Amino acid sequence: MNVDKQPLRIGLIGFGCVGQGFYDIVGRQPGLGLAVTRIAVKSPAKPRTLPAERFCFHADDLLADPDLDLLVEVIDDPAEAFRLVSTALRHGRRVVTANKAMLAHHLPELVALQRASGGALLYEAAVCGSIPIIRTLDSYFSHEPLQSVSGIFNGSSNYVLTRMSQQGSEYGPALAEAQAQGFAETDPSLDMGAFDPRSKAVILAAHAYGVFLHPEEVLNLGIESISAVDIARAAAQGRKVKVVAGLYRLPNGSVAALVTPQFVGPESPLYAVEQEFNGVVIAAEFAGSQFLHGRGAGGHPTGSAVLADVLALQHGFRYAYAKQSEAPETQLTEGLEVEVYLRHADAAILREALTWLQLPAGALLIDADGPQATGTVSIQVLWTWRQELRAAGVFVARLGEVRPTVAAGITPARAAELV
Ligand SMILES: NC(=O)c1ccc[n+]([C@@H]2O[C@H](COP(=O)([O-])OP(=O)(O)OC[C@H]3O[C@@H](n4cnc5c(N)ncnc54)[C@H](OP(=O)(O)O)[C@@H]3O)[C@@H](O)[C@H]2O)c1
Repeated sequence: MNVDKQPLRIGLIGFGCVGQGFYDIVGRQPGLGLAVTRIAVKSPAKPRTLPAERFCFHADDLLADPDLDLLVEVIDDPAEAFRLVSTALRHGRRVVTANKAMLAHHLPELVALQRASGGALLYEAAVCGSIPIIRTLDSYFSHEPLQSVSGIFNGSSNYVLTRMSQQGSEYGPALAEAQAQGFAETDPSLDMGAFDPRSKAVILAAHAYGVFLHPEEVLNLGIESISAVDIARAAAQGRKVKVVAGLYRLPNGSVAALVTPQFVGPESPLYAVEQEFNGVVIAAEFAGSQFLHGRGAGGHPTGSAVLADVLALQHGFRYAYAKQSEAPETQLTEGLEVEVYLRHADAAILREALTWLQLPAGALLIDADGPQATGTVSIQVLWTWRQELRAAGVFVARLGEVRPTVAAGITPARAAELV
């Protein structure tokens, strides 16, 4: 409560889904002592839910306003968001953002800017909406080694997978339904191609392991080529297809990262994460396994995470990035392998994919539901052929966890000792 003091004056940049959600939450809780005193948007002609005089159209005016105590940046343009956030930090300001694509591409610069200028940046809303995963990793687990951080970080693709699983429908109708319900964008490629959860994995790597990855270094495979056949085959094994983003500590201490569809069984808490929800499993060395589940998007859930950041900044909180000084090596492609399931309706295309992935022709199996293949492939090879696989429409899903490559003639136990 902030009853005796002036309210904290907030400049809000962006008044779309998240901006309006945040504004509404602040308005419903006057006791918090917060006031959104200025709002910047882009289009003068757009109809608004507030009087026209509440809006300005130059976000730079808010950056230059000394009467604002804090800025909330929730626009949909990553390049402009980076310009605004980095300018504000350079001037030592306190900023909250939700822009995961911008953060994933610029995190090292933004951390350096904060250290140089005394500014502060929080971004809980950028990963898994309402789930407090960043602060949990950054603060609570700041000094605990983590074996893995993995989860469902994209509500849109999870909604599509859930609808396919529940209705036995094909990808196209399930995607159309997700778009009609507001759970998927008109251009679904960032979500369905697993680019969005890749950005989130990159952000979490900085807090979970002190590792700063470039998004393009991380393998991401999506669900654009999934079919009802894949869902049915997973179900026949008692499993579901989920897009799992994962950061994994390898036996040699280095960290691997990737985002792909995966056949997930009921032994994993991710099996029960349905619809537009997100879930994160943290496997900690001493604390054991923890699971967080919640809404990954939407005005109020995301606005709630923005509010939590605003209040944290007010109380002087900053991310510690405590593991940065002892960050492990990363091992993103080389020396790693995983067992995969592959499918394409055309056996000839699948046969060609097997050659790309260095799998034997005998891996191909044709049953009543059409061609499929399974085998162990190197992540390096998957990485090399990822664009061809995407372009050819081959659906790829992990069947197990990523592991160090087992050299021929060496037992898995011996290989683990060697890395
Ligand atoms: N939606 C979610 O559930 C969700 C969840 C987590 C994170 N995020 C992230 O939160 C951010 C905002 O998402 P959103 O869904 O709220 O977007 P949105 O509904 O499309 O709204 C974007 C807002 O930004 C404004 N804007 C765009 N460029 C601007 C500029 N140069 N200066 C000032 N205002 C500008 C737009 O102005 P006009 O109103 O004039 O068009 C609009 O008000 C994105 O980075 C997104 O990735 C969203």
